[in-house]
Amino acid sequence: MSWGLTGFLVGLLLAQAVGRILGLRRRNAQKRLQLFSELGIENTASAKIIGFFHPYCNAGGGGERVLWAAISALQRKEPNVISVVYSGDTDATKEKIIDKVKARFDIELSPRTLHFVFLQSRHLVEDSTWPRFTLLGQSLGSMYLVWEAMSYLIPDLYIDTMGYAFTFPVVSLLGNIPVGAYVHYPTISTTMLSRVKSRARGHTNSESISSSILLSQGKLLYYRIFMYYYAYSLRQARFLMVNSSWTKNHVDSILRHQDTLLDIIHYVTPLVILKLLFRTPKNGPREASIVYPSCDTRQMAVFPLGGRERVILSIAQFRPEKDHPAQLYAFHKLLELYPEYRGSGPSAVRLVLVGGSRNVGDATRVENLHMLARELGINDQVQFVVNASYPDVLNWLSRASIGLSTMVDEHFGINVVEFMAAGVIPVAHASGGPLLDIIVPLGGEPTGYHATSPETFAEAFRTVLTLPQEAELAMRQRARTWAVQRFSAEEFEKGWDESGWRKWLFE
Ligand SMILES: *[C@@H]1O[C@H](CO)[C@@H](O)[C@H](O)[C@H]1NC(C)=O
Ligand SMILES: *[C@@H]1O[C@H](CO)[C@@H](O)[C@H](O)[C@H]1NC(C)=O
Repeated sequence: MSWGLTGFLVGLLLAQAVGRILGLRRRNAQKRLQLFSELGIENTASAKIIGFFHPYCNAGGGGERVLWAAISALQRKEPNVISVVYSGDTDATKEKIIDKVKARFDIELSPRTLHFVFLQSRHLVEDSTWPRFTLLGQSLGSMYLVWEAMSYLIPDLYIDTMGYAFTFPVVSLLGNIPVGAYVHYPTISTTMLSRVKSRARGHTNSESISSSILLSQGKLLYYRIFMYYYAYSLRQARFLMVNSSWTKNHVDSILRHQDTLLDIIHYVTPLVILKLLFRTPKNGPREASIVYPSCDTRQMAVFPLGGRERVILSIAQFRPEKDHPAQLYAFHKLLELYPEYRGSGPSAVRLVLVGGSRNVGDATRVENLHMLARELGINDQVQFVVNASYPDVLNWLSRASIGLSTMVDEHFGINVVEFMAAGVIPVAHASGGPLLDIIVPLGGEPTGYHATSPETFAEAFRTVLTLPQEAELAMRQRARTWAVQRFSAEEFEKGWDESGWRKWLFE
């Protein structure tokens, strides 16, 4: 086929696409008015619509809590802004969702400025739909899904709260509206890319068979191209919020990601047309801003700070990454270094492991932990509380002295926040959220301790156990003040306000 003919056909397709997009935008004016009249909005001239893309809005997890908390605050502060949620929960209704949000999160939503658009093609973003090339499949699926969303209604501002960055170019193209996002987790990280890269290199260096070299090189190329488009998609957002330092570090490094070779390839081939779709707006964000999700600490924040028992408390599901054996080793080290904590007298210390056991794997782990405690000769002072009810968990939080968390590189650590709100002094592994976000000084004074080895954990326990009473109370108070304030609903709302969405909606 000659270039001329190809050009002509491409031109024809483009013209058709432009026609459809313009048609979509034209019909949208009518749909807006229809929505306003359905909701009984009178002042249609000043009413604005924010679209929240959250295909699994009825799932009841942490990501959903963020969505509903944001919408609820918006409803209180901006009575002229309609929140439209694009959801794939076709079996739910607006009333049912509102009721569930109230029951599950105790968050009030007003039906007056809330509307749901139910999407039919959510299966396209399910991983079971894409057994191979899952990332790519889901991303293309999300592009189609958002097309469906925009063909029902184009908002004035689009916010993705589930991490579907590939929807941004489609929304910009179809709606010509600003786009923003709240990111819990990057779809692919630069660490993943470099891990694949080093593995691919490892293969080429070794004597492995050529097919596996080809395979890993292929995989590297796949990740590389994926990252290229992911970075361009993210850069289309006018504001980006993230839920933690961990996510910020990853998202920021993706925003900075450059791939000159792929850039060149795009400019010298017909792929240049994709550059139109994935163009970067001039004033996109250079970095993401952290907006911590709020934690509901009301019940813990009223426990008395004094009169604590000599209990080291761990609250974690019996999953492998929580590293419960490290807790036993640390406790064993404490008793070895400071034998006065042994026995059952008034100075004896106990370790209490509270956690859920979901399946056989967890149950086996609990068994093994029992065995390990016996081997270490500490079992008389270690107590397991499996599948504790919530009131029981609260009870332990009101009595314990020290809160222990040993997971390495935990992204967040809500259990640590709960320790602190309860006035339990935290001792956590020096990594991830507990290091960067949670156990940080308040007014230059510590709110807890970090450790890395049985020795350092044991020394941290020792420090807490020997604090003079006044200093101990002060530290419990600091930990509580910090956790309650930093992870409060007010801070969360302030973070959203400062992210700059208003500017994009109203200007
Ligand atoms: C952020 O989101 C990720 C993924 O859902 C989650 O693992 C992490 O705990 C969240 N962080 C916070 C601060 O809630
Ligand atoms: C804990 O709960 C899970 C599921 O809820 C159940 O399968 C398991 O048997 C329970 N374990 C104990 C020790 O109660």
